[in-house]
Amino acid sequence: MSDSDGRTRRFATDAVRAGQHRSHEGEHAEAIFATSSFVFSSAAQAAARFAGTEPGNIYSRFTNPTVRAFEERLAALEGAERCVATASGMSAILTTCMALLKAGDHIVASRSIFGTTVSLLSNVLPKFGVHTSFVDMTDYAAWAGAITPATRLLFLETPSNPLCEIADIARLAELARAHGIWLVVDNCFCTPALQRPFALGADLVVHSATKFLDGQGRCVGGAVLGPAKLLNETVFAFVRTAGPSMSPFNAWVFLKGLETLHLRMRAHSDNAQAIAEWLAAQPRVRRVYFPGLPDHPGHALARRQQDGSGGIVSFEVEGGQAAAWALIDALEIFSITANLGDAKSTITHPATTTHQRLSAAERAAAGITPGLLRLSVGLEDAEDLRADLARAVRRL
Ligand SMILES: Cc1ncc(COP(=O)(O)O)c(C=O)c1O
Repeated sequence: MSDSDGRTRRFATDAVRAGQHRSHEGEHAEAIFATSSFVFSSAAQAAARFAGTEPGNIYSRFTNPTVRAFEERLAALEGAERCVATASGMSAILTTCMALLKAGDHIVASRSIFGTTVSLLSNVLPKFGVHTSFVDMTDYAAWAGAITPATRLLFLETPSNPLCEIADIARLAELARAHGIWLVVDNCFCTPALQRPFALGADLVVHSATKFLDGQGRCVGGAVLGPAKLLNETVFAFVRTAGPSMSPFNAWVFLKGLETLHLRMRAHSDNAQAIAEWLAAQPRVRRVYFPGLPDHPGHALARRQQDGSGGIVSFEVEGGQAAAWALIDALEIFSITANLGDAKSTITHPATTTHQRLSAAERAAAGITPGLLRLSVGLEDAEDLRADLARAVRRL
């Protein structure tokens, strides 16, 4: 956002200030507008609001000041014209597809995406005539080769969940532009504090606000960001009609999360780097997936495209599922939970949790082996986290 001299404010200022429109009460923290509807001063005003000839609130399925504050703040941080908040990260992805696509349209998606997104694209959208081809996210010839005349969008996560593969957003944006189609980036792992897909040419960004945007594991929410005209005519219109809306309370929690986002993302990245380096030196650990390690295939690209490596570290232990489960069960600090992006460090066994619903072939294609573990490295002291892992690794 800009100040009255036209000077663009910096990230940390927008994170704390953007989107707040103080009410006549003069509240310092943002207000939670816990109301389902808004009152009109006259029948004529009600008609004008519904007709769209007068701006203003109508009904919280699609207009709520607290939700709008979150939308404006996240839009400022991502460098987007418009943000539409949604009830969850999955509803942000569903909304994007339902709003932009019609029966007969085709998606090309990275194979290395969140398991539930794979299910959505493979099992739900085909019922509505929208089909998806999956490609290896770093095989740019495969992306180009999968595009057909029916393709309307390319979809990816970078870094990917859970293997932290890195794809070149600018290169895929160029491909999308050449075909007149949209590039949609799920920016969940990096958040705008570490990666700004619009600056690299992406058309739309989706978020699970549940993760690092909240940052303390409290609420489920999501967001779609992009050009104002496109979003107003498609994504906002879909949310208004279909109702996958964010609650004002959740929006308020996410507003508080955004205020510390840049500080937390740096701390998550630093802690994750320390843990990844330590894991890489353990003989019972076969492989560590973390873009901050020099031997990671996406290391150089991540350094170019991101301002930090993020908080997710995956690694494979010798001994398959039995060893992976034994390691999990020996930990005292890491929480066994499927969420990520929390101040509390978490550990997940993707093959039997987040990616359980995939077929064995889909899991194998996505590199989800039985010995794979995913850490979301939190904000505890890195030395304590290392000691916790060391105790568990010793038991293997
Ligand atoms: C990368 C990514 N995108 C989307 C989602 C879905 O978000 P939500 O759980 O808020 O629906 C997740 C959830 O883990 C995720 O990791």
